[in-house]
Amino acid sequence: MEEIFEAILRGARRVYGAINQGELGYCDTNNCSGEQQLRLDLISDQIWLEELQTLPSVQMVASEEREEPVETGRGEYLVAYDPLDGSSLVDVDLSVGSIFGIYRESFQGANLVGSAYVVYGPRIEVVTALQGEVKRSIVRHDGGLIPLDPPRLKERGKLNAPGGTQKGWYPHHRELIDSLFSEGYRLRYSGGMVPDLHQILVKGGGLFSYPGTEDKPNGKLRKLFEVFPFAFIYEEAGGEAIDDRGRRLLDLPCQGIHETTPCFFGSSYEIGRVREFYNVPRAE
Ligand code: F6P
Ligand code: MN
Repeated sequence: MEEIFEAILRGARRVYGAINQGELGYCDTNNCSGEQQLRLDLISDQIWLEELQTLPSVQMVASEEREEPVETGRGEYLVAYDPLDGSSLVDVDLSVGSIFGIYRESFQGANLVGSAYVVYGPRIEVVTALQGEVKRSIVRHDGGLIPLDPPRLKERGKLNAPGGTQKGWYPHHRELIDSLFSEGYRLRYSGGMVPDLHQILVKGGGLFSYPGTEDKPNGKLRKLFEVFPFAFIYEEAGGEAIDDRGRRLLDLPCQGIHETTPCFFGSSYEIGRVREFYNVPRAE
């Protein structure tokens, strides 16, 4: 696992370098989720493939930007990654990220054994999680790490990051979001999953939601590349991560690598509010 985290540190500096070259163009192609690909999406994808495919501990990689997984060797781990999350924000110079889920045996939430994400903001940060341990560091230009306090979610927070097109929100979802605002929660939503979830994690709590909507009943965010890795990190940091039926996200099956799910990440108070408004009490 350590060699995968080291490859992520190397790749992070390369991706950050590519972002800083000022490449803003689009390709003529769409990814499997129907999103038009930026040239930077493909450059980042290639960087991660190069960094991961030679590692002896890796047997397969799957990318949000590729239709099929790539077999790379005979190692113990399967790595799923979102090469450049939130890439449509690069043109306005907002923070973007990369997300990694590390699996054993097959790409299922129950088989996820480690996660990481990189934030490309004013500086590069990396957060890694293994069972019982979440670490956060600044990545220096020379590749050295400056460790920061491990993030920990409190019982409740102050931030509300409501994703999805409001026009398509179901009434109970709108009531949930409104009720948090009427309790004093503050809106914090950039449209980049990595910085939005990172902000809630680092500030100690809140709710990030990406619900099912009338036009997209299964939501937008992809289980393998986005949802499972963050679910693991949130749980290991003392929070919770559930779907719209109250199930732990990490317990959900994954039938196709690009499958999506409605998702809610937060501290325990806010996830309790999701359960109330969605009428999905915790099973005893
Ligand atoms: O990767 C998909 C993504 O860009 C996430 O980073 C982000 O959370 C989400 O889409 C934003 O979607 P929307 O613009 O629909 O709120
Ligand atoms: Mn993404």
